[in-house]
Formats: sequence, structure tokens, C-alpha cells
Amino acid sequence: MKFFRLLTLTSLMMITAGITAAKESGTFTIGDKTFLLNGQPFVVKAAEVHYPRIPRPYWEHRIQMCKSLGMNAVCIYIFWNIHEQQEGVFDFTDNNDVAEFCRIAQKNGMYVIVRPGPYVCAEWEMGGLPWWLLKKKDIKLRERDPYFMEHVKIFEERVGEQLRPLTIQNGGPIIMMQVENEYGSYGEDKPYVSEIRDCLHSIYGKELSLFQCDWSSNFEKNGLDDLTWTMNFGTGANIDEQFRRLGQLRPNAPKMCSEFWSGWFDKWGAQHETRPAKDMVEGMDEMLSKGISFSLYMTHGGTSFGHWAGANSPGFAPDVTSYDYDAPINEWGLATPKFWELRKMMEKYSSHKLPSVPNPPMKIITIPKFELTEFAPLFNGFDYKYTWWDHEEEAHGESPKTFEELDMGWGTVLYTTRLPEIPQEGRNLSVSQTTLTLEAHDFAQVFIDGKYMGRIDRVKNEKTLTLPPIKQSQELQILVEGMGRINFGRAIKDFKGLIGKPTITTSFSSHVGEVDKIEVTYTPNQWECMRIPDDYEVAVKAFEEQKGKNPTTHESLNRAVIGRGYRYAKESDELIFGRGYYRGYFDLKKVGDTFLNFETWGKGQVWVNGHAMGRIWSIGPQQTLYVPGCWLKKGKNEVIVLDIVGPSEKVVWGQAEPELNKLQLEKSNKHNNPGDKPDLNSLAPAFDGELKAGNGWQYVPFKYGTKKGRYLAVEVLSTQAENDVAAIAEIYALDDDNQRISREPWTVKYASSEEDNGNHLGDKVFDLQESTYWQTIKGTDFPHLLVIDLGSEQHVRGIEYLPRAEQGAPGSVKKVKIYIYK
Ligand code: GLA
Ligand code: CA
Repeated sequence: MKFFRLLTLTSLMMITAGITAAKESGTFTIGDKTFLLNGQPFVVKAAEVHYPRIPRPYWEHRIQMCKSLGMNAVCIYIFWNIHEQQEGVFDFTDNNDVAEFCRIAQKNGMYVIVRPGPYVCAEWEMGGLPWWLLKKKDIKLRERDPYFMEHVKIFEERVGEQLRPLTIQNGGPIIMMQVENEYGSYGEDKPYVSEIRDCLHSIYGKELSLFQCDWSSNFEKNGLDDLTWTMNFGTGANIDEQFRRLGQLRPNAPKMCSEFWSGWFDKWGAQHETRPAKDMVEGMDEMLSKGISFSLYMTHGGTSFGHWAGANSPGFAPDVTSYDYDAPINEWGLATPKFWELRKMMEKYSSHKLPSVPNPPMKIITIPKFELTEFAPLFNGFDYKYTWWDHEEEAHGESPKTFEELDMGWGTVLYTTRLPEIPQEGRNLSVSQTTLTLEAHDFAQVFIDGKYMGRIDRVKNEKTLTLPPIKQSQELQILVEGMGRINFGRAIKDFKGLIGKPTITTSFSSHVGEVDKIEVTYTPNQWECMRIPDDYEVAVKAFEEQKGKNPTTHESLNRAVIGRGYRYAKESDELIFGRGYYRGYFDLKKVGDTFLNFETWGKGQVWVNGHAMGRIWSIGPQQTLYVPGCWLKKGKNEVIVLDIVGPSEKVVWGQAEPELNKLQLEKSNKHNNPGDKPDLNSLAPAFDGELKAGNGWQYVPFKYGTKKGRYLAVEVLSTQAENDVAAIAEIYALDDDNQRISREPWTVKYASSEEDNGNHLGDKVFDLQESTYWQTIKGTDFPHLLVIDLGSEQHVRGIEYLPRAEQGAPGSVKKVKIYIYK
């Protein structure tokens, strides 16, 4: 017995030793115009994939898929906020086990490039920064703010504990690490970027190669001399042009495109984005033929499960749940036609036959239509944490609290106040309109005494709602749902909930005529804020409370409501009926991947067997959610939907293909309302002339100096190619000092023609993305007109203009008139 135990122990030890024995240490360095792997020239062919966007059981399959494309590395971001969801509480287990992801890559003969932030962008909630940083209101993000830097360092240290043993120097697969991310589109701050560099050096040692990535037009702003520079650009871009400046400044540096965008991300309320396979493959072929390294962003995009999708800015454009990205490996891990074309090209540059394409881990299944019969009203989701009308604060006229002040990251808050009677008439006056004005982050629904009045949607830049006449003591309730925090640009400091104080303005008109208009504004100072955190546990509790109650009678709901010392629910209460949690079940004999269809639902969140699947919104374009089979089980499976708007039908079914491009908009998102078209005939243009041909930024000063106005109109009279399709990638307006005016408040007032299929609407000229553009529809006549509302009156003395990034700058403008007017 003793002998047997001894033997077992020894053999066990041997096995363990076999697994943990250090792999040989190696080097990854910078040579003359090339990277050097263990001293040998090396072209990086990296596949960008994000481990939190892939269910862990599928990690290895996705890595093998990348390998079968001929890639030799995977490139990953580290999302700070998924690892430190609560300050000081770190999680590197299960789907967050980044070290294991790297080990699986190594096991499959793949190197790893790590981009540990702290900021990552990536269409991910707040660009990867944890929301709780915003509890310190005056924090400066991505700057040398002591509080921010202290937390960055703690986080990077903890990542270091996971990844330090996995650098190539320590026998692991990690060859390079990125310092920050595209800092140029945020600001100019070499001291900050240097501090992030120093932090990584101190954790991983100076031997580990560090690099920076940015757009070629932004690079010089923050490029540090001792770091490798890499460029980000999209499919179709003129590649030589992208590397021209780097070639001039650092002729001996290796060239790498650190993000070659295979496709693009989707936003709620806008068309699904795709990019042609041909352009992608040709670009990569060109790079490989020139020995240029790359990372293909995304090679496999996956899914932004739960509440992790971010939002784009300027403006507010929340990203959908799917991160398919039109990548060669689709959201659910299969090879697309793009994949096969890419593989064929990659084969040319491989010394050996490419590995065969692995079988998917699961088959696709369909699920017949089923109903979500259980209902629990939204009120049951309150977690008892709320702030009651605070009389002390009232004296100071405090604003309603943001989510962050209520210590809640994600969810919905119900704001309640009581209204005074607003007189409908005065001497010779009568009310012409009552308007509620507020700033909601992000989706507000307004109720008076439980009756739905309408919504104020940040996506549409809405700030006001017309109300009926108001009587004394009526209850005004504003239900505000937060979507993903902005992940791009200066606006990442994106507090949720009601921002500032709502006001109610009553305008009176006069019966007699001397007075044109009188306005009276009332600012409620007493607000009650109740939280509904966005959590599976909260949903389950909501159903617990509903047990034994008949969900369709208002008496039963009354109890739930009164339980909080709250008002009675009425039969007519639209806030309570219809809005809330729905639960249903489906049975499976065999598990598999599927796409659950939610097109009859309003807006909210979905959980399947307790896994947060993501956001849904009837407006589309995404109408189905990818449900990986590894999270399903044989027998009974549970689906919970939190719908803050309410469904038209409570049904769900599983289909074999996703629906990523079905918009159900109330109104088209084109900007071609004829009433918005300005009459330019009476105006003198600020610029009337020709722009240059070719790629790159152009400075267009106004001949007669500064013009004052709120609107900027670009009237295109001809294009360089002398055909009718015009395109513009970006426009900046410059102030008296030739500084770029902030584009955050910009909206499109009018566009004579917008190519909708590829999502080339007018707002693409100020989305801060050089690879997206406004483009007119083929066959529409000149002049093409684009009118931008600058948000307020501005002094403009010129513009900066960027044509499309593709070779020859397709659609670039020749003759143009630019107007600034009131
Ligand atoms: C930039 C960022 C990425 C991602 C892409 C767009 O390049 O660095 O994180 O946001 O844009 O998909
Ligand atoms: Ca753009």
C-alpha cells in the first residue's frame, strides 16, 4: 500500500514536472527594417481576437481557426473593467483567465501580442476603463491624474502576476506589448504615455518589446523614441501612403499595421457594416509582399456579451451586442467566404501547408417558437437602495443623482418628483406649450402619474419633450436606462442617468399682442432615485417577489409597490404594466449554437441560463442574439428578458442564422427632409474654389477671413474623378486661432444624398474615424450638399478636409463652395 502510494506520487510529480517545465527562453527584438525572433527576421501575422468575446470552451477552436488562416500570432486586448469589476476585487478565472488563453495559444504554436491598455477602445464599455473610476467626479482619465495612475498601476501589476511568466524571455508566447492605445485621437501627452511605458517596463523588464499604435496622421503627436511605431488603418487604404511619414522619420524601423480593419462595428439604429473581401485580401497581400507585419482586426470579433458593448462618439452611437465585424471568422466561429479567400492568399506566404480548418465545437440548432409567460414588473427589480427626497440637499438645489453617485455601474434608475400646479392662464395670457428639458444618459421614458408621455433618446440627440398642462401634485417619473459608456474620444467620461437638473418651461402667448411670448421655467429640486441594477440576481429576485401573485391584476402589483412605501399602482399604470421581466423555457434534446430572435421585443437585456447574453433593441439592425451551445443544456433552459419598453409579442425562437441587418426605425435615419434644406442663393460662400487631388488631410482657409454662424454647408460641385459620386471622410472646422473646434455637439442638418447601404451617412464626416465617410448615391445630380449643425454659433476661419483613405482617394472633391451661416 505504502509502496503504491509512493509510486503514484512519483509519477504524478513527473507528470507535473513535464507540464510546468520552463519552455526555452527566447527573444523578440527590433532589427534593421524587420522584427527579429530569436535573432531571425520575422514577419508578424497576427489575428486579433478578444477572449472575453469568446466563451472559454471555444477559445482553442478560435485560435486554431486563426492558425489555419496562416497566422503566427494572436493579438489580444486586456479589458481592465472585466477583471476589476469592483475596486480592488480582481478576477482572472473562467472566461477571464487570460493566462490560460495565452497558454492555449502557445500550445497551438501561436505567439501572443498583448495590449494591456489601460485604455483599449475596442467598442467595449468605456474603452476598458472601470466605471467606478467615475465615482471620483473630477478624475482625469488617461492623464497623469494621481488617482487614475495609482489604479492603473495596481491593475497592471495584477495583470503582470498573470502574464509575466508568459513572456518570450520567460519561455512563454508573449512577444510584444502595446503601450496605451491610439492616444492621438485623445490628446497629446508624452509624459503620460511615458509613464505607462515605464509601468510596463518595471513589470515585465526592459527586454520585452513595447510598441505604440496610432493613425499615421496622429503618430507624431505622442510617438516615443524608444518604442516601435505601428499604424492602424482599414481595408482598402493606400498602404504606401500610410507608412510614408514613418519611412521618412525612421527609415530603418520595421513596418507593421497593428490594426488592419477587416470590417467594422455596428451601432444601434444604423445599417450593418461590411467591407469587401477583395480589398482586405489585396491589402494584406501587398503588405506581405513588402515584408510588412500586421494584425488583422478583427480576425474573429465574437460577441460583446452582457452590458460590455461600448458606444461611439462624437454624438452617442451605442454599439450592438454582436461584434461580428464582418471578420473572416464570423461571430459564431465559422469560416466565411472572406476566410477562404484570405487563406488562399496566405498560403502563398507560408513555407508549409496550412493546417486544416478545424471542425466547429458544436452544430447549429434551431428552437421552435416559445412564449415567455412569466412576468414580474419592473418595480420588483428595485434593490431597496435609493435616495429619498433629501430636504437638506433640496435647500442647495441638488441635481438628481447619476448612476455613479448611486454606486451602480449598469442598469436603470427611476427618478421621481412631484410637480406644482403650473397655471394655465394669466392676465391676457394662455399657455401655448409646456416643455420638459433634460439630459438623459441614455434612454429616458417620461411618465406623469404612471401615464407614458414619450421618450428622450440620446442616440437621436433628443433633449426635450412636450408635456400636457400640469396639475398640482402630479407625479413626474423619468425612467432612465444606461447603455454602454462611450469608448472613444474625449467623451469617455460618460456618467449615466440624469445629468444635471431637468427643467419644465411653460410658454405663454398673449391675447393682446404687446407681449410676444413669456416663458416660466420651473426646476424641481426634490428627486427620489431608485436603482434597478442590471444583474441576473436582480431578475431572479423580481420573480421571487411575484410568486403567488397574479401578474395581470393591479391589486397584486399594488402590494409590491406599497411594500416600498411607494404609491399605489393603478390599472392604467403604463410604467408598471408591460415593462419588466419576462421568463420562459425551452427544452433541448441536443445542445448546439443558436441565434435567439427578439424582434418582437422592445429594449433591454437577455439572460440565458444565467449567462448575460447582451442588449436587445427593436430598432435593430441586430435582431438576434448569438447563444453558444456550451451555455445551453439538455432538458430545460431558461430565458429571461428585461424589457424596459415592453414587447409586442412575448415570443422567442432560435434560428440557424443571425439577423444582423434588420432596421425597424420609426423614421429613416437619412438627413433629407426637404424642409431642412437651406436656401444658399442669398448667401456669400466663405470658400469658393478647388480642392487638391490625392490622399491625406488638406487645410482649406477661408479667403475673406473668419465667418460667424451655427451651420456649415459644404456644396460639392464636382469631383476629381469627374463622376457624380462624392465622398468625404472627415471635416474639422477651425477657429480664429486655427484650432479645431470641438465636434461633440455636431449633428447633420441636411444631406442631399447619402449612400445608405454601406452606411455612408453624413455624420461619418465627424465620427473621428478616418476610414468611414459620407458618400453620395451614384446617379444623383450635382451639387451635393451636406449641412452640419455646429450646435451653437462659432467663429470659423477655415476647414480641414480628409478624403477617403483608399488609393486615389475615390470620390474626392474638386470644385466646392463652403458656407457658414446663422
Ligand atoms: C481603433 C481602436 C480599436 C477599435 C477600432 C475600431 O483602431 O484602436 O480598439 O476601436 O478602432 O474597431
Ligand atoms: Ca469618418
